Amino acid sequence: MLSLRFFFVVTLLAAVVFAAPASVRRRGLQKRSFKVPRQLNKAHPTGPNGMAAMRKVFRKYNFVVKDDFMVKEGFISNTKLSQNATKPAATGGNLTGTVAANPEQNAALFLSPVDVGGQTLNLDFDSGSSDLWMFSTDLPAQSIAQHTAFDASKSTTFKKTEGSQWKITYGDGSGAAGTVGTDTVTIGGVKVEGQTVELATAVSRSFIEDTNTDGLVGLAFSNLNTVNDGTKKTPQKTFFDNVMNDLDMPVFTADLDPDGTGVYEFGKIDATKFEGEMTWIPVKADTGFWQFPSTKFAIGDQVFENPQGSDAIADTGTSLLLVDQQVADAYYSQVKGAQLNAEVGGFIYPCAATLPDISVAIGDTYMAKIPGNQINFATVDKANMTCFGGVQGNQGAGLQIFGDTMFKAQLVAFNGGNQSLGFGQKPLR
Ligand SMILES: *[C@@H]1O[C@H](CO)[C@@H](O)[C@H](O)[C@H]1NC(C)=O
Ligand SMILES: *[C@@H]1O[C@H](CO)[C@@H](O)[C@H](O)[C@H]1NC(C)=O
Ligand SMILES: *[C@@H]1O[C@H](CO)[C@@H](O)[C@H](O)[C@H]1NC(C)=O
Ligand SMILES: *[C@@H]1O[C@H](CO)[C@@H](O)[C@H](O)[C@H]1NC(C)=O
Repeated sequence: MLSLRFFFVVTLLAAVVFAAPASVRRRGLQKRSFKVPRQLNKAHPTGPNGMAAMRKVFRKYNFVVKDDFMVKEGFISNTKLSQNATKPAATGGNLTGTVAANPEQNAALFLSPVDVGGQTLNLDFDSGSSDLWMFSTDLPAQSIAQHTAFDASKSTTFKKTEGSQWKITYGDGSGAAGTVGTDTVTIGGVKVEGQTVELATAVSRSFIEDTNTDGLVGLAFSNLNTVNDGTKKTPQKTFFDNVMNDLDMPVFTADLDPDGTGVYEFGKIDATKFEGEMTWIPVKADTGFWQFPSTKFAIGDQVFENPQGSDAIADTGTSLLLVDQQVADAYYSQVKGAQLNAEVGGFIYPCAATLPDISVAIGDTYMAKIPGNQINFATVDKANMTCFGGVQGNQGAGLQIFGDTMFKAQLVAFNGGNQSLGFGQKPLR
């Protein structure tokens, strides 16, 4: 009896082992669109945190926090921004892990599973950068800590690209760097063979302390990729660029729920996710970003010119809707009790306040509306019920960064075929 059961189990296992590779291969060939979930990073230090979100986006784009900004604007009397995170570190930075950095600075709130050479990692899908990089076993054990690190020696499909390297650095000198290779990358069941993957051999502390994020999948244009062959830039194709021609449509969409979780879909636009027709706006792909003009905004139904009118980029790796400062100022002037708070680094207001809808122009032909009830980002202080808004100002940085606050209200399609963005208004909740 025992041996019969054993035989049965072994037969079953054998069937699974032999069936799996074949079925994966078949699916890989036939599938013309696929989905990948975007899940909450359970190891995120604190959940949504306004100050951390603000610092992360300022750091990522190397925007300078102006100490005297809030004083000049007349919002506060004589206080300075208490955080110096976006300023160059005194040491000039150190990728081996000694840069003093807030653990929340790089913390990704949301992650998606990616298979690299048979190893599953939790990566941050980032339409604001173009490197696919991950923690590797070439890092010191104390840097790997609780991360899943890619072990190239255990992948039968990994090939090292001799002499090549990559490096991402931020304004404060922190960042990540390492070696380069190619491997089979599977996302949502679809395989790309020979995908360039970048192995971190040095990461700064802020990445280490974000314990659950094993790396990034860059989804901006390939010309921003940081790989070099030791003497010159040799930008590598992103996963999206590699998979694009095998898809039904050369697109991916970000479909986020109000809580920020959701799904990335490649190859297809699900028309049940938005109302009416999608509006398409060409992007300035030569910048490397999904970048477009945005010279107008609306509060409720009232439309205004944005006096600064900086270009905007669509960034799934940023939590906030970071608008030109005058736009944020105008918006919060309509919110009772709102104030620009130096300590927190952005606009806060009583959590009970009614927030008006805001719309931001996407190119010349579309206004992306974000309902007021979707703008709250985080509670700053539970004791006095102060909240931090998902719309914030860029302190005159000259670029607007449209992140999750927008994606929760808009179904956005990134079209690599004709280099455009499609926008559809999600139904109100
Ligand atoms: C910020 O930097 C300035 C000088 O650059 C320094 O005087 C100040 O103490 C710093 N503030 C904090 C909170 O570290
Ligand atoms: C960088 O970190 C290493 C290892 O901890 C340390 O020995 C070195 O002094 C640091 N360099 C700088 C410039 O801080
Ligand atoms: C890009 O492609 C979409 C989808 O096929 C199409 O509807 C749109 O008109 C095109 N947009 C531009 C700017 O070419
Ligand atoms: C509530 O708490 C925050 C953070 O501690 C503080 O900055 C803010 O001034 C307080 N607001 C009120 C209205 O007391």
